[in-house]
Amino acid sequence: MSTAIAEAVRSGRLPGRVWLYSNYHCNLVCTYCLTDSSPTSLRRALAPDRMVDLAVQARDLGFTDLGVTGGEPFLRPDMVDVLLAMAEQLPTVVLSNATLFHGDRLTRVAALAGHPVVIQVSLDYADADDNDAQRGDDNHATVVAAITRLVERGIRVRIGTTLDPDVEVSDDQQARLCALHRSLGVADEDHVVRPIVRRGRADVADLGVKATVADLPPELTVTADGAWWSPFGPTIRDGVPETDLLITRTTDPLATPATALLRLIDGRPPGEDARLGIR
Ligand SMILES: C[S@@+](CC[C@H](N)C(=O)[O-])C[C@H]1O[C@@H](n2cnc3c(N)ncnc32)[C@H](O)[C@@H]1O
Ligand code: SF4
Repeated sequence: MSTAIAEAVRSGRLPGRVWLYSNYHCNLVCTYCLTDSSPTSLRRALAPDRMVDLAVQARDLGFTDLGVTGGEPFLRPDMVDVLLAMAEQLPTVVLSNATLFHGDRLTRVAALAGHPVVIQVSLDYADADDNDAQRGDDNHATVVAAITRLVERGIRVRIGTTLDPDVEVSDDQQARLCALHRSLGVADEDHVVRPIVRRGRADVADLGVKATVADLPPELTVTADGAWWSPFGPTIRDGVPETDLLITRTTDPLATPATALLRLIDGRPPGEDARLGIR
């Protein structure tokens, strides 16, 4: 079956990246958070050796890339060691709110330089007021300072921008955000922009666009609770995991959900390509 998965990845039918949810708790409480994360969230953590084992299995099956998200992955003291071990298997991107990169944590994170690990940092608007309304007081200043420190230490940084589709962003605002990320040393190809998806806390807060299976690329995603169609799948609404995009509860061996995902893709009607460009 690893051959079928590798072939599906090679042909582009199956995205090459496998996502792991390292944990669900977070030091922030963003207004639109699809995982409903906060300091009091259940951790739902994947054990460190489990994350590395999943990376090994993903490579053996023919996947080409790994992603780590949460919650805030860097709240875990073991995160840098886990990322280094995962990146020995496949290139890895880790999503982060970048609010913890100072002191001892920054020293530890600096060890990622020179390894195939990219940190994708969330920054939503060029203007601090707009950004901080979604992501919390002082977030813009904290994140901009952190990006500078990461880039100075030789770490590749991407920026992920999440926009409220009901709030118009002027050409000038867009241009200023791009000027800001370029000035921080982040190239245009390393800036991703997507709409708020109406799941988790965003749904409760009546924010964002509805996303169906047809809108979301089938990126195999593993959490402590199971395997899902997309990293936008294992969302938490009112404290409860949403299961509409659950593929299997079994995640070991990884071939089980990977094979199930492949069957689902092959059953997809033609033309049902992902439409929202959500990454
Ligand atoms: C859930 S966070 C986890 C990683 C980290 N805590 C962070 O904020 O970057 C991953 C990414 O998803 C984005 N995100 C959160 N809720 C979303 C939603 N409802 N729709 C679209 N993107 C969302 C965040 O802005 C962030 O860029
Ligand atoms: S979007 Fe990221 S930083 Fe914001 S609450 Fe959710 S997990 Fe935390």
